[in-house]
Amino acid sequence: MKNIKIALELGAKKLKKSSSTPRLDAEILLCSILNKNRLDLINIENKALTNDQNQKYMSFIIRRSNFEPIAYITKQKEFWSKKMHINKNTLIPRPETEVLVDMTLSFLKNKKRPTFLDLGVGSGCISIALASEIKNIKGIAIDNCSKTLKICKQNLIQNNVLSNIILKKKDILNNKFTQKFDLLISNPPYLREREFINICKSIKYFEPKNTLVADRYDGLKYLHFIIKNYRNNLKKNGILALEIGNYQFKKVGFLLQNYRFRLLKSFNLINNDIRCIIATKI
Ligand SMILES: C[S@@+](CC[C@H](N)C(=O)[O-])C[C@H]1O[C@@H](n2cnc3c(N)ncnc32)[C@H](O)[C@@H]1O
Repeated sequence: MKNIKIALELGAKKLKKSSSTPRLDAEILLCSILNKNRLDLINIENKALTNDQNQKYMSFIIRRSNFEPIAYITKQKEFWSKKMHINKNTLIPRPETEVLVDMTLSFLKNKKRPTFLDLGVGSGCISIALASEIKNIKGIAIDNCSKTLKICKQNLIQNNVLSNIILKKKDILNNKFTQKFDLLISNPPYLREREFINICKSIKYFEPKNTLVADRYDGLKYLHFIIKNYRNNLKKNGILALEIGNYQFKKVGFLLQNYRFRLLKSFNLINNDIRCIIATKI
């Protein structure tokens, strides 16, 4: 019978080729099976795994060694310190999207009963983070994937924000909304087809392409559509918050100017590229 210490050493060794953080990955996978946190593991490292636990752990290690992202193996991901259920139909929430939420909050704090429209809700991470920070906020969140909306609803329930958010199956690219909102927020698909072909295996072979790829040309299909066609859904002094791709800021800047928006705030990630923007109507 393998104990935890040996299981972790073995797991980390098997993940050396497929992961840059083999030991960490092995720990997270084992924690999800034992329902423990990583600190707990140190205290119980001499404890033996049961046959079932060992079998499950080894199957997780094999999946990870085939580049499957940890979030799909454990079926969850933390976002804004909240647990999100994830499955293969749903994009794994990313840290840069937490930055987008963070930038947005300061613009909403003084509004009495703010309203928002989340375009491409996915797991629900953005809507849930907003509703957990601003108690009287109300939002509509749309996606065109029924399976994603099902997972999203579970996440709204689990995080106690179901009453704040109406989920709708709708196409972002066919705007039928007539209401006006204080916030339009979106992390839309923004990759070019070519970028997806060259992307790392763990994304290319596992994350749903339709959540990431916008078009063949410049990746701007959704961003362009949103900036152009949702302008009338923004209240006076309302804000548009968008996550954008690498090297898209210049073109997005032109689009904002063209459709009479003023940039209020932007955020550069580590590589100094602007990836999150906040704008308002002129
Ligand atoms: C980049 S993901 C963002 C998901 C989530 N908001 C997040 O930040 O993790 C884009 C989302 O838009 C949805 N989507 C793609 N095309 C769409 C369309 N034409 N209409 C509605 N939703 C769409 C996808 O299903 C996916 O959930």
